[in-house]
Amino acid sequence: MPATIDPGIIAKIEDLRKTLHHHNYRYYVLDDPEISDSEYDRLMQELIRLETTYPDLVSPDSPSARVGAPPLAKFDQIAHTLPMLSLDNGFADEDILEFDKRVQRYLNLQSEILYTAEPKMDGVAVELVYEDGKLLAASTRGDGVTGELITANVKTIGAVPILMRADRSSVVPPLLEVRGEVYIGIEAFKNWNAERMDQDLPPFANPRNAAAGSLRQLDSKITASRPLEIFFYGVGVVEDFVFESHWKLLQALKKWGFRINPLIRPRISIKDVLKCHRELSEQRHQLPYDIDGMVVKVDSLALQQQLGATTRSPRWAIAYKFQAIQETTVLEKIEIQVGRTGVLTPVAHLKPVNVAGVTVSRATLHNEDEIEKKDVRIGDTVLVQRAGDVIPEVVKVILSKRTGAEKKFSMPDRCPVCRTAVARIEGEAATRCINSSCSAQVKERIKHFASKGAFDIDGMGAKLVDQLVEKGLLTSFADLFKLDKETLAGLERMGDKSGENLIHAIEASKKISFARFLYALGIRHAGEHVAVLLADQFESLEDLASCSQQDLTDIDGVGPVVAESIANYFQQEKNLGTIQSILDSGAQIVFEAKRKTAKLDGKTFVLTGTLDGMTRRQAKDMITAAGGKVSGSVSRNTDFVVAGDSPGSKLKRAKDLGLAVIDEAGLLEMLGG
Ligand code: IVH
Repeated sequence: MPATIDPGIIAKIEDLRKTLHHHNYRYYVLDDPEISDSEYDRLMQELIRLETTYPDLVSPDSPSARVGAPPLAKFDQIAHTLPMLSLDNGFADEDILEFDKRVQRYLNLQSEILYTAEPKMDGVAVELVYEDGKLLAASTRGDGVTGELITANVKTIGAVPILMRADRSSVVPPLLEVRGEVYIGIEAFKNWNAERMDQDLPPFANPRNAAAGSLRQLDSKITASRPLEIFFYGVGVVEDFVFESHWKLLQALKKWGFRINPLIRPRISIKDVLKCHRELSEQRHQLPYDIDGMVVKVDSLALQQQLGATTRSPRWAIAYKFQAIQETTVLEKIEIQVGRTGVLTPVAHLKPVNVAGVTVSRATLHNEDEIEKKDVRIGDTVLVQRAGDVIPEVVKVILSKRTGAEKKFSMPDRCPVCRTAVARIEGEAATRCINSSCSAQVKERIKHFASKGAFDIDGMGAKLVDQLVEKGLLTSFADLFKLDKETLAGLERMGDKSGENLIHAIEASKKISFARFLYALGIRHAGEHVAVLLADQFESLEDLASCSQQDLTDIDGVGPVVAESIANYFQQEKNLGTIQSILDSGAQIVFEAKRKTAKLDGKTFVLTGTLDGMTRRQAKDMITAAGGKVSGSVSRNTDFVVAGDSPGSKLKRAKDLGLAVIDEAGLLEMLGG
């Protein structure tokens, strides 16, 4: 028998859970938080602490359930009460007008039909089942009839209500099956993929694959670490509730705590549907997530019912797709690129093709296994795809176009640049050049060192680095600081003025934050994020260098592989020598104020316009070093908008929302001068 628990503790836990559920709703559904992220984290930590101390009080409905559950051996299957159908597709205005006619004919109606138009999220469909307001199960679409049970994974998504909201004004149904699309935002996808590449993990081709992969993890703690989001757009069974229209249903879902896309346009004529589609297709590249079209739905649920469905798709809805971002073209050759850590990446050279307005002539083939899996051969006609700013990739081979003249590709035995024998480590997808002095690796390491997130040397572009290495003027990044005007003057396309500017830029880069310095070193597995974690912990290079692998693993967010790589790096004399020579050439590391004194803790900033005394990057660094966050777009979550010269539409939006607008001087003042 457990010892009796103090009722005060029970009340405290209940209160914390209620408070956290409430703030979740304010943040995700209303996009209007009442407390800062750090305040929220503190409340969550307090709850987790109490639940750990009193395990008898642990509940599956607790907001703490988001951190993940014990791993599964496999996913169970679950049948959907109502099948999860697909949608018919339309690609031009005529297809949509024809759809409208079809609906009218079927209903034998002459009067205008009203539609609701929604962005078609390019993610993964899921169904969530709530009984008496409690999340009971979540599943994938599967084949539409049966899906996989992924409840623990879906629970980790912040915007998924673990309990539906019920108050005086909203009673919840005894059973609700709600459907939505899980996705990953573009910015989060890019950052995460960059981290993966830093860790020599294969990047995901696009946010949708990344979302699907994240949802299919048997260990929900892994899912919890992925930046998944969700919008809800429909229902299966809803007991005891009858709604008049799809729009009213969405409003009820919102009230119950489900996140609904704010861009949904309710009850519009078919003419306005077409207009809306044009607007959305223009707006699409500014959206923080991928959409692949618009879903047009008959708004009246009575009419939806009359229209019914075929075995494949409902008659009351159609997906109006955007222009394809996939095209076919011919793969002319495969070239090998050697990266900073020696990884050999096969790159497809394509017959140039226009993909949604951009000419694509190169696409990544990732690695040897991918080429084999897709059976890509030289001369093949292939489907290529680009999504946002992501590197284009070869999706598949069009086998029907094969003539038999295509040639198989195999990875070379030797590095194409330095001719050293390559190695492929058991269990890794990557083939590597193991010669760390290989000129391709040297070039890439220097480019990384000078890149925006590292020393940020303005003017030190890829071509210039190539030239300097080829001429023997640079053999390691430490040599960058030894360059002088005379040496630069002898280079192609280098005038006096640009040489001078470059020397200035090198000089200016020497003062650098600890996080950027660590990132610049290019330690394997230590990307920008890990560098920030380390810089937060250590006040000197010596402290970090003397750490064991175990010490490093103790840092939250640093796993054993990363820790081993870092400890290993600092054990090698050669690396210590390189660091010493960077410091000897005058590099000055600024050890960041520790988070404990963070002045801007939990505050979100948006920068707009040109700043006078600092670059945006510098402003961003200063804000993050002081515990603040910098976001790319203005929303109600923004605390301060920093406006420089010629600010853009962000300033207008900030004013419309009544947000605090400060100038550069105001920012410096907040940072303590
Ligand atoms: S309604 C009967 N609304 O598109 C199907 N679907 O091709 C009703 N999707 O599997 C679906 N955004 O995953 C609907 N606003 C939206 C959507 C949406 C994305 C996906 C969904 C579905 C697929 C159908």
